[in-house]
Amino acid sequence: MESNWWKKSVVYQIYPRSFNDSNGDGIGDLPGIIEKLDYLQKLGIDVLWLSPIFDSPNDDNGYDIRNYETIMDEFGTMEDVELLISEAKKRGIHLVMDLVVNHTSDEHEWFAEAKKSKDNAYRDYYIWREGEGSNPPNNWGSFFSGSAWEWNEPTQDYYLHLFSKKQPDLNWESDSLRKAVYEMMHFWLNKGVAGFRMDVINLISKHPALPNGPVHPGQLFGDGSPYYMNGPKIHDYMQEMHQEVLSRGDILTVGECPGATTEDAALFSDPNRNELSMIFTFEHMSLDSGPYEKWDLRALHLPKLKKNFRKWQTELHGKGWNSLYWNNHDQPRIVSRFGNDTDYRVESAKMLATCLHFMQGTPYIYQGEEIGMTNVVFESIEDYQDLETRRMYDEKMANGAVHEDVMQSIYVKGRDNARTPMQWDDTAEAGFTTGTPWLKVNPNYKTINVQEALASPNSIFAYYQSLIQLRKELDILTEGSFVLLLPDDEEIFAYQRHWQEEMLTVYCNFSASTRDISCVHENESDVVIKNYETLEWHDNTLTLRPFEAVIFKFNKNA
Ligand code: NOJ
Repeated sequence: MESNWWKKSVVYQIYPRSFNDSNGDGIGDLPGIIEKLDYLQKLGIDVLWLSPIFDSPNDDNGYDIRNYETIMDEFGTMEDVELLISEAKKRGIHLVMDLVVNHTSDEHEWFAEAKKSKDNAYRDYYIWREGEGSNPPNNWGSFFSGSAWEWNEPTQDYYLHLFSKKQPDLNWESDSLRKAVYEMMHFWLNKGVAGFRMDVINLISKHPALPNGPVHPGQLFGDGSPYYMNGPKIHDYMQEMHQEVLSRGDILTVGECPGATTEDAALFSDPNRNELSMIFTFEHMSLDSGPYEKWDLRALHLPKLKKNFRKWQTELHGKGWNSLYWNNHDQPRIVSRFGNDTDYRVESAKMLATCLHFMQGTPYIYQGEEIGMTNVVFESIEDYQDLETRRMYDEKMANGAVHEDVMQSIYVKGRDNARTPMQWDDTAEAGFTTGTPWLKVNPNYKTINVQEALASPNSIFAYYQSLIQLRKELDILTEGSFVLLLPDDEEIFAYQRHWQEEMLTVYCNFSASTRDISCVHENESDVVIKNYETLEWHDNTLTLRPFEAVIFKFNKNA
């Protein structure tokens, strides 16, 4: 494998539960993924990242792992995984696993042991504290509503869970826990996986005193994040993991890092520090929320988004490496979020893809993004399956919120927007299953589906194919520096990339208005890709129509 192969790769994320069901039980599975490998090869991606496929009671759809080395019954068997790895390899596709080691399921045998008694051998695999009188040890709230602490009767103390109470946090201070994690990682590398996406990895080092956090306006619990995000030993752990596991090959590693700054990202991804290949930032995903919670809806102010990308593109250039994403299984659909999912769905989906894929970093495509899948509106809260959504709804309603307001924030930000089944065709249940899907399909599958996309040369799918191809062909995409143009413009996202004598200019219209842009260097014949069939070009003026994207490439010395 070429070294740093992941710099020129495009990753496709599969949420297995919602991708393709091969046996009619309403739940996507591994044979279902294998059936669709030709489709993924056609798209042109290099890497498949699978959200967790391990044995789990599914409190959080697999992000609560009961056994790291066995496969969830609904998904299939270890033989299916082995077949998937080898079939993917035949098509030039590497497999990346989700490594969830900030916490396990409370049904993992480590926790089943640990909770029995204070002198159990697994006790120090988790984080235990005495209460403060009749209260929990500190005021931290969990990400899924309620306190971050749960009482354990047999030991008469509390355990920490930053997520649900069925997801107890692991104690990375424990040498034996860390060793067990590294052994498990070797187990998967020995099976032939090419890397790991690491779930909330920058939360694994907690400040040992676990102090109370500030209680922000409108919040019921304290914010412990200053004491568990990017904690004191995080980089020691990453370097140890590198030395013990990752140094064995050129492995793709991407750390999910909420709250990480560009300085943190450089520490994680500087190749000389031997930690990770790259991290996922959340900064660009938080610009349409209030300061304290994602449910607090705000309109996006485009200059903020552009300046945020400028910061990441310039501050990691030559120092570390970016990941580039708009979507994943936790985020609403980008075409509904920053695009226009009614009149300009196709145009805006292509424009958003253009804007992202011409930056420096490794692009990630989330299932369905390549056909422009949209957010969903279910009238009843009962139709939502995500525990984050359900707990938030219950908590807010119990505290006097208005049903319609809470539903509105779910329509805009709920995680089930990303998790409705993949839309393969216009037959019943979008061709995802012959049974009843675990989460309802988006009713728009009759018009938005893979079959329709594959039939049209102008589809969003075809456009993604071209973007992926261009990443292979143009070194400037991987190597070039980034210069933001028109930083304060509220509608146009424009930037340049520079490398040797080459230059790219990228013009993306994030609005439904028509705008004239004066182009000094560009020529009509320099267009690399565009999302309208024709170009509106007169006397060095480019007229950008609603959600139009145009890219020019030229030689600076010519
Ligand atoms: C981040 C994952 O992406 C999300 O889906 C999950 O709920 C939490 N981590 C907890 O594992």
